[in-house]
Amino acid sequence: MIIGIDIGSTTTKAVAIKKGVVIRTVKTRAYDAITSATGALGKMLVESNLSFSAVEKIVVTGVGSLFIKDKIFGIPTERIDEIEAIGLGGMYLCKRDSVVIANIGTGTSIIEANRDKITHLGGTGVGGGTITGLSKELIHSTTFDHILKLAQKGDLQHVDLLIEDISDRGISFLDPKATASNFGKMSDTAGKEDFALAIINMVFQVIGMIAVFAAKSRDANSILVTGNGSKNLLGQNVLNEISKLYHVGFEFPEDAEYATAIGAALSKE
Ligand SMILES: Nc1ncnc2c1ncn2[C@@H]1O[C@H](COP(=O)(O)OP(=O)(O)OP(=O)(O)O)[C@@H](O)[C@H]1O
Ligand SMILES: [Mg+2]
Repeated sequence: MIIGIDIGSTTTKAVAIKKGVVIRTVKTRAYDAITSATGALGKMLVESNLSFSAVEKIVVTGVGSLFIKDKIFGIPTERIDEIEAIGLGGMYLCKRDSVVIANIGTGTSIIEANRDKITHLGGTGVGGGTITGLSKELIHSTTFDHILKLAQKGDLQHVDLLIEDISDRGISFLDPKATASNFGKMSDTAGKEDFALAIINMVFQVIGMIAVFAAKSRDANSILVTGNGSKNLLGQNVLNEISKLYHVGFEFPEDAEYATAIGAALSKE
């Protein structure tokens, strides 16, 4: 069994792989990289009722992996570049040998993966961290589930300037309800629910658009969304609206948040 551990800026994800197949996943969160990695490994083994001897090798990746040296609890441990890991994990999740990936974590990276080459196309600092950061100031909450709950009751018309606010018909291929300017209206009556939705909407619109431009530049008509951001249902709605306008599909695979950890484990199989 090989364990892949992705020590991200916000959360740590671990997976166990046997004969090329994911058999277990765990997620954890700690304040330092070593506690995160050992905690994730311990949780995985205890929950699976396994001992250290079942682990052949550990492969770490993610920003926190730089703090991990040769071994964890005596188990041989290697490190792999995060972009490489996302590319390998993405190909595993979509079951294709060529894919454009938008990995939405704390920040966002866009990657093109092929069996012979994995390329970092670019990215944006706008990501999940932007949602929690802006929410702290605007709605006085950093609890992700609370932010989502508020957003479900939000109305973008109180915060965003829409095309219908500035024109009595659509503009180009944009219909009257499309965004003209994120946070461009900010009416005095806007409440926490509206801010929460507007933040999520803006973050996913930015990510969606850069991912579409990246995909089109590589002649791809589909984008695989990975990272914890892939699990955000409101975010998925935003990306699906972009998909209709630009004719590029977004895929939200199961285990999307484990893509990086899966790629790490697969890289040394
Ligand atoms: N239960 C949760 N706890 C914390 N963050 C969550 C949760 N659910 C969703 N999120 C969102 O996911 C983001 C973190 O995503 P993810 O774990 O994929 O990033 P990461 O791998 O730690 O970061 P990066 O890859 O950018 O270094 C948070 O910023 C937050 O917006
Ligand atoms: Mg990550």
